[in-house]
Amino acid sequence: MLSKRIERLDYPIRKYNALARSLEEKGEKVIYLNVGDPLKYDFRTPRELIEEVYHAMMEGHNYYASSEGVRELQEAISFKEKTWNDVEIEPRNVLVTSGVSEGINALFAALVNEGDKIVIPDPSYPLYISFADFYNARKVFYPALEDQGWIPDTDKLRSLLDKGTKFLVLNNPHNPTGAVYPARIIKEILDIAAENDIPVVSDEIYDALVFDGEFVSAAKVASPDNIIIDLNGFSKTFLATGWRLGYIYLKGPEEKIMQIRSGILNFLMTRLSAVTPMQVALARFARKSPHHLEELKRRLNERRLYTYKRLNEIPGFHMPVAPHGAFYAFPRVDLRMSDEEFAKELLVQEKVFVVYGSGFGEKGRNHVRLVFLPPIELLDEAFKRIERFMRKNLNA
Ligand SMILES: Cc1ncc(COP(=O)(O)O)c(C=O)c1O
Repeated sequence: MLSKRIERLDYPIRKYNALARSLEEKGEKVIYLNVGDPLKYDFRTPRELIEEVYHAMMEGHNYYASSEGVRELQEAISFKEKTWNDVEIEPRNVLVTSGVSEGINALFAALVNEGDKIVIPDPSYPLYISFADFYNARKVFYPALEDQGWIPDTDKLRSLLDKGTKFLVLNNPHNPTGAVYPARIIKEILDIAAENDIPVVSDEIYDALVFDGEFVSAAKVASPDNIIIDLNGFSKTFLATGWRLGYIYLKGPEEKIMQIRSGILNFLMTRLSAVTPMQVALARFARKSPHHLEELKRRLNERRLYTYKRLNEIPGFHMPVAPHGAFYAFPRVDLRMSDEEFAKELLVQEKVFVVYGSGFGEKGRNHVRLVFLPPIELLDEAFKRIERFMRKNLNA
């Protein structure tokens, strides 16, 4: 009945949602630490941005937009990239997507044939693995080094790339590890890609959420030969996960990026357009100074430091370096069971929902990912439950 393609699709972050819901239906209070959505806790979309949606709707911006996005938003994204990340991009090289998620799908749809080799970080945000499976690509993983703060092993990466590689995925700041890559590492990766004429897909959705170190966009340090396919969006840094808006921008040799642009746009035409009034609202809001970021980062930083301290106090949990960016912790856990069993048992026994590390790749084995988004009191309750679970199960 079902396609082989859909049977290959797996999304570990939401895999145990039904189990969590069934526990809630029995009256249990589940603490959700699985999904990277600040709005599920006490963060709110900036009021001014919401008001812009109302104005946009009342002004009549309720039609299908063009498939590449509202022109004013393409221009505002170009402005945002210049002012936030010191990157120069032509507005016409920006394509607006329904979230980075759709951007990843569009990218695979436009570029990947069955059997094509794509190179992905290990561990990786799962959607890159899921879409590689969906489109039957050949996945090759380059490892991140946990003892060096989850920085990619560039020697290994060099040995994995060849001229037949379709693209290389970079994700900085990194989900699930919270690593923020130094400029030197990004430059090294870009040089390896340029030597082999391979496009670099750079997912920078957490660009402004950096607490230690400095974020450097791949496009900022790229050489003129690099082909950069940058993915970014409004879910996290504009606190608008449910609006489903993101973007792809392209930078590099004109002929090559025009070809990629037309392939991706061809796919985007099939869904007509991304949501119009929100695009108009973001076009206006993104031109202003991003005042909301200060408060967002201050609160996240408090929760990050608390999480780092508390997790290291739990027997069997190890996290030598605090996450430097994004809002995830990715500790190693000493267990007598697989990380997937651990995550499931923790949910069943203590009603704390984390994601099993092997869902992010081989290097994620014996790890779990949890968000440090909830207020301290809720994090505290979650850590107490995890500690109780560990004391019960560590030597069982
Ligand atoms: C690295 C990364 N890329 C892409 C996404 C997808 O974001 P969205 O589709 O909301 O833009 C996420 C969401 O968690 C992410 O962590």
